[in-house]
Amino acid sequence: MIEYRNLRVALLGAGSVGAQVVKLLLQHGDELAQRSGAGLELVGVAVRDLDAPRTADIPKHLLTTNAEELILGADIVVELIGGLEPARSYILQALNSGADVITANKALLATHGPELFEAAEQVGAQLYYEAAVAAAIPIIRPLRDSLAGDRIQRIMGIVNGTTNFILDRMDTAGESLEHALATATELGYAEADPTADIEGYDAAQKAAILASLAFHTTVPIDKVYREGITAVTLDQVEAAKKAGYVVKLLAIAERVTDPATGVEGVSARVYPALIARTHPLATVHGGKNAVFIEAEAAGDLMFYGAGAGGVETASAVLGDLVSAARRHVIGGPGVAESNNANLPILPIDRVITRYQITLSVVDQPGVLAAVATLFSEHDVSIETVQQSVAPLAPAERAGDTELGATLVIGTHQAAEADLSATVLALAASAVVHSVTSVLRVEGNE
Ligand code: NDP
Ligand code: HSE
Repeated sequence: MIEYRNLRVALLGAGSVGAQVVKLLLQHGDELAQRSGAGLELVGVAVRDLDAPRTADIPKHLLTTNAEELILGADIVVELIGGLEPARSYILQALNSGADVITANKALLATHGPELFEAAEQVGAQLYYEAAVAAAIPIIRPLRDSLAGDRIQRIMGIVNGTTNFILDRMDTAGESLEHALATATELGYAEADPTADIEGYDAAQKAAILASLAFHTTVPIDKVYREGITAVTLDQVEAAKKAGYVVKLLAIAERVTDPATGVEGVSARVYPALIARTHPLATVHGGKNAVFIEAEAAGDLMFYGAGAGGVETASAVLGDLVSAARRHVIGGPGVAESNNANLPILPIDRVITRYQITLSVVDQPGVLAAVATLFSEHDVSIETVQQSVAPLAPAERAGDTELGATLVIGTHQAAEADLSATVLALAASAVVHSVTSVLRVEGNE
């Protein structure tokens, strides 16, 4: 029988994810020791309430409310508390004492990542965070290691399960956003307060992490452009379907050449966008996540799976635990986070993409030409136009005109700044009753 060196593992948090980490670690400890070359001894589990119900059996003697004491003397600290504080202070305490740290905390990494990576580098420790983006899906390690020799052009991720569930219900079951959100809450996908999900904050944190890794550049959360899904209507989803698209909340990290200066930079953004139904991301249903990567040499890659869930997320945490243990066995300093490219981070108005604009217009000769002129005056090239005639809404009727036309205009690639100016001009035009919908179109198909 092989005698392994023992590594002391301190766990902070025993909620949805933490309790499952305890369960799997206690269940499969021997196997994990064989894979790591070291025994993984769980020395304690810090929680707030010693008597709170848990989703897995945790031996009572392991529970403590004294996280700081638990961190002292640990070789590896696993932070599964969530939020900014005290998680940040605990991680700094652990790193400063030379322990490796594993976290699933995207909010903390997107806000204080550079400080934490710097602290790890100072002492030669390593900060692991595979579970922080898309939970069970291996995406951090592929970006950091497997694709480190390639040049990534763009990442498009469905990285929030709650919003994907809601948009999918709207698309497949014809539910309104409110109804789909209620279903998501009932089935346990959405939190009691779903703001972080539906307003895109959660996806923006993940976009910041993905963009930083992919482009070797620190991308702070306040540089990520963000729109949530609350303005998406069932009409938009149904019109998208008829046109061969599906609406998805996308977290996009892209290498972009600034149209104003010609300088290469990074764009990180989150918004609901149209994606062709033939695109691999269109097949991601329900609460599932997927990350689609376009790399210069590797081509297109897609990573798919569970982006949430206690046991699923615990899988990624335990993968990090094995990596950390192997590193301890081999010895040597941790690998510093690569941020040396230091590319400029471009604001949303420098982004170039395609758009679909829906207009309610007056139905009379010359209207199409007037609308087309506004696009060309702002340097936006039209690719497709579809027109249908229908009764006007009462508020849009003028005199005895009861009919109006709906124009659905698809553009070629255009700069966001030019598109915004076009939309303003359209809204002010006498031939346009209203701009009903403006959605970006993403993906190369
Ligand atoms: P939970 O809210 O279910 O659990 C949090 C745990 O932390 C609880 O056990 C709580 O103790 C403990 N805790 C909170 N504050 C303190 C404190 N001050 N001192 C000690 N313990 C404390 O969170 P999750 O398990 O859902 O999430 C953990 C992390 O994983 C978060 O960063 C989250 O973003 C991330 N994550 C979660 C996913 C998921 O599907 N749940 C998916 C991907 C990432 P007590 O139980 O006593 O209240
Ligand atoms: N609230 C997140 C989601 C959990 O819906 O995907 C995982 O980060």
